[in-house]
Amino acid sequence: MYEIVEKYEEVPNVHRLVIREPNIATKAQPGQFAILMADEQSERVPISIVDTKDDTFTMFILELGVSSAKIVNMKQGDRLEAVTGPLGMPATLGKYGRVVLGGGCYGIGAIYPLAKALKEQGNEVVTIIEARSDYLLYFQEELKAVSDEFFVATSDGTEGTNGHVQDVLVKLIRDGERFDHAKFIGCTYMMMNCSHITSPYRIPTKVALNTIMLDGTGMCGCCRVSVEGVTKFACVDGPEFDGHQVNWDELMKRKSSYLMEEMLAYQTAPHTCKALEKAYSGDLK
Ligand SMILES: Cc1cc2nc3c(=O)[nH]c(=O)nc-3n(C[C@H](O)[C@H](O)[C@H](O)COP(=O)(O)OP(=O)(O)OC[C@H]3O[C@@H](n4cnc5c(N)ncnc54)[C@H](O)[C@@H]3O)c2cc1C
Ligand code: FES
Repeated sequence: MYEIVEKYEEVPNVHRLVIREPNIATKAQPGQFAILMADEQSERVPISIVDTKDDTFTMFILELGVSSAKIVNMKQGDRLEAVTGPLGMPATLGKYGRVVLGGGCYGIGAIYPLAKALKEQGNEVVTIIEARSDYLLYFQEELKAVSDEFFVATSDGTEGTNGHVQDVLVKLIRDGERFDHAKFIGCTYMMMNCSHITSPYRIPTKVALNTIMLDGTGMCGCCRVSVEGVTKFACVDGPEFDGHQVNWDELMKRKSSYLMEEMLAYQTAPHTCKALEKAYSGDLK
């Protein structure tokens, strides 16, 4: 059993979890993830490792459906049934020069270990994050500390550029910025759009794909993606891939395969869903 040593809602719907697991804390490298199970009946949920300290590691979890809700409704001191990791290949790192990073949703946290490592390796790091509104932005001070330049985009224009990571990226490139490398983590549309933007400029671009995963060890084939026309398993070959070579259409279709089942499962499990509980009690802002 794995102790949750810290747990709080960082901003609405995004929860910070610090878990005690010395093996992961001492071995994790930037870009890797762990798979969590709240209890023995739970689904396996892959979550990115954001930071490590002593025998603990930090993650940010976005409450989306039944399984993430189950985890974020656990409290400090509770114990997870299973925590497996570190999984996946570490992100590619190196001294590239000027690097642009983009993060949205859980990717705001997940981009942090890459920014930190790239900065330590002597790169100039330009970080762009996005959220629907200013009150959903988090981890900004930590990201600023490992970035040479830092930009924010919000869909409602309450902070920074009115738009998304790709809007800031386009403006920077059109204003004459030259980037030697790019990495994006977050929603699939954002990663796809940013890859389409960097492609004509021949900026080598990596994306961390969040395919549906089961075992996370290359056995089930659930996380398969086509990259350069070749089938890859995101859990063992990735999650980082060349954004210019991913078959995005196929990825989108595969990710939405169980959308109806996921929606029904979430709606019929109100005891696991804080948002629904709040809505039923008339407390939803
Ligand atoms: C390598 C990797 C790293 C990730 N890092 C983070 C992170 O740091 N923080 C975070 O909040 N989320 C992260 N995710 C996404 C997270 O795993 C899903 O949001 C979660 O599994 C959703 O489960 P659910 O039951 O709550 O939602 P569901 O209602 O079951 O699904 C909602 C959506 O989440 C996706 N999803 C569902 N099941 C899985 C699954 N087993 N594996 C992956 N995606 C799934 C699908 O697109 C689905 O439409 C990561 C995913 C991967 C593959
Ligand atoms: S999750 Fe099963 S092969 Fe990747």
